[in-house]
Amino acid sequence: MKVLLCLFSGTGNTRRVGERFRDELIAKGVEAEVYSIKKGAPMPATEGLDALVVGYPIHAFNAPRGALAFMKRLPASDGLPVWLLRTSGEPSKLNDAAGITPKRILKKKGYRVSGEFSYVMPYNIMFRHSDGMAARMWKSAELRIPGDAETLIAGMGTLCKVNALRRLVAFTLRIEHSAMPLVGRHFRPTEKCVGCGKCARVCPQNNIKMVDDRPVFGKNCTGCMACAFCCPEDAVKISIFNSWRVNGGYAFDGEPASDDEVCRYCHKMYLRYFHAGEQAKK
Ligand SMILES: Cc1cc2nc3c(=O)[nH]c(=O)nc-3n(C[C@H](O)[C@H](O)[C@H](O)COP(=O)(O)O)c2cc1C
Ligand code: SF4
Ligand code: SF4
Repeated sequence: MKVLLCLFSGTGNTRRVGERFRDELIAKGVEAEVYSIKKGAPMPATEGLDALVVGYPIHAFNAPRGALAFMKRLPASDGLPVWLLRTSGEPSKLNDAAGITPKRILKKKGYRVSGEFSYVMPYNIMFRHSDGMAARMWKSAELRIPGDAETLIAGMGTLCKVNALRRLVAFTLRIEHSAMPLVGRHFRPTEKCVGCGKCARVCPQNNIKMVDDRPVFGKNCTGCMACAFCCPEDAVKISIFNSWRVNGGYAFDGEPASDDEVCRYCHKMYLRYFHAGEQAKK
């Protein structure tokens, strides 16, 4: 069996989960490879594949524009099975709406969308999760991935059902797709910028050009936050979202948060997600 995992990732969460998924498939005897989605990069070959995985983070209950653009560029297919793999900052049912447009695009092209896998990973905008929460999320993903990999190998999977209200909320917030290119044009380096060029290198949209050792932001921003998150000097000002800026990576391999710490976050929904992952393992 040959599987290609095409991953759109801003700040590395989706890449981390997707690569772990690839390793699990390989451990189970599958030929699996990762392709990183980047604007302007040559498209991957899909001939000879038995399955495709398309991975992306959730942005405002939708798939990011950059991931959708990739799906639109995929060649037509006569029934290649596809699984969607998503990461999000919280285990909200609203996030299920982020599969609606990808499923429509892929089905129109002749792909057979066979299942959706969702993993909660730390937020890269709005607020910073604790490293303990990040470690618990990662542990939970590691518990879920082996079962999900088996589901894919068996050609099984479930598709999320999204009720009308959630569809409406996600549809309304799709305004993000037109707003981010406008907002992103106003991202600026502060005086702390040392001109290292890392922001330009990590941008999956190739939206940053270095001019006289200063990043200049173009009109293709998809709001992934890689530039602000990865800047070693915390020197990227993200316009109207600046108070939501999260800078710097998470330590995933520390002590996972206890149930008490988890409860401090947003009601019990994280706990339910973690416990479901632990049950799945048993
Ligand atoms: C612009 C933006 C919007 C987001 N919207 C949501 C959201 O609607 N729901 C959610 O649970 N997480 C949301 N997140 C959090 C990301 O989905 C989450 O941190 C994800 O794991 C990031 O993946 P990446 O590191 O591969 O880019 C959002 C992040 C960004 C940058
Ligand atoms: S990553 Fe930060 S320090 Fe480096 S060029 Fe970009 S803004 Fe400047
Ligand atoms: S400019 Fe920054 S936020 Fe926008 S797509 Fe590039 S890395 Fe992501």
